[in-house]
Amino acid sequence: MRTLTLVTQKGGAGKTTLAASLAVAAAEAGERVIALDLDPQGSLGTWGDMRTADAPAVDRIGPDQLGSLAAILKALDGEGYTLAILDTAGVSSTGGNLAMQVADLALIPARPSRLDLHATMPTIETLMRLEMRDRFAFVLNQCPAGRSSRATEAANGLGMFGVLAEPALTQRADHQDALAAGQGVTEYASEGKAADEVRALWAWADRKMKGNKA
Ligand SMILES: Nc1ncnc2c1ncn2[C@@H]1O[C@H](COP(=O)(O)OP(=O)(O)O)[C@@H](O)[C@H]1O
Ligand SMILES: [Mg+2]
Repeated sequence: MRTLTLVTQKGGAGKTTLAASLAVAAAEAGERVIALDLDPQGSLGTWGDMRTADAPAVDRIGPDQLGSLAAILKALDGEGYTLAILDTAGVSSTGGNLAMQVADLALIPARPSRLDLHATMPTIETLMRLEMRDRFAFVLNQCPAGRSSRATEAANGLGMFGVLAEPALTQRADHQDALAAGQGVTEYASEGKAADEVRALWAWADRKMKGNKA
């Protein structure tokens, strides 16, 4: 089983949104997925409660279970899951750190603004300390539609610190509406551009994790 973690201390970057939509897109691509909410605020868990579809599975990991995270993942592997997607809190936390350590890939969503990029630095420092240089990537999220110099500048800035996942995700109402409806964007508006971007992002993450394993 592979583990994909969404992490950044910055709130509002898109961790929960991407965790949910990537979980759905990966399940549609044939993975047996479990999405795990490590954030005490529980947004991903709430999204899971709204769902009626069987896949992906959605569950919560409470603060008292964090110490057993590795064992929990091992048990899920034994149950036949092929992918765990971990959503984490928007603060520096034990849960966030543990979720990074167990990850085959940590994705750091960031909006393309100077303040948002600056806010990713503590997370990058932690990943470096955990010797995860080859196991993390930035995802530019909520980029303005159309060709944007802001997004290009942000991509160049982040590129100095690590790999940038492709594609960058545009700000689209589909993301908000899908989450509110308890769906991933590929369920909510399967033919839409947001869905295309999320499917492409999953394909990128899949390739990146396979490359790292080789
Ligand atoms: N690509 C996007 N387009 C439009 N809205 C987005 C996008 N990504 C995230 N959002 C919105 O931004 C807000 C914060 O996203 P969220 O996933 O909750 O961030 P985090 O989990 O990192 O705190 C939510 O209202 C979400 O709907
Ligand atoms: Mg969140």
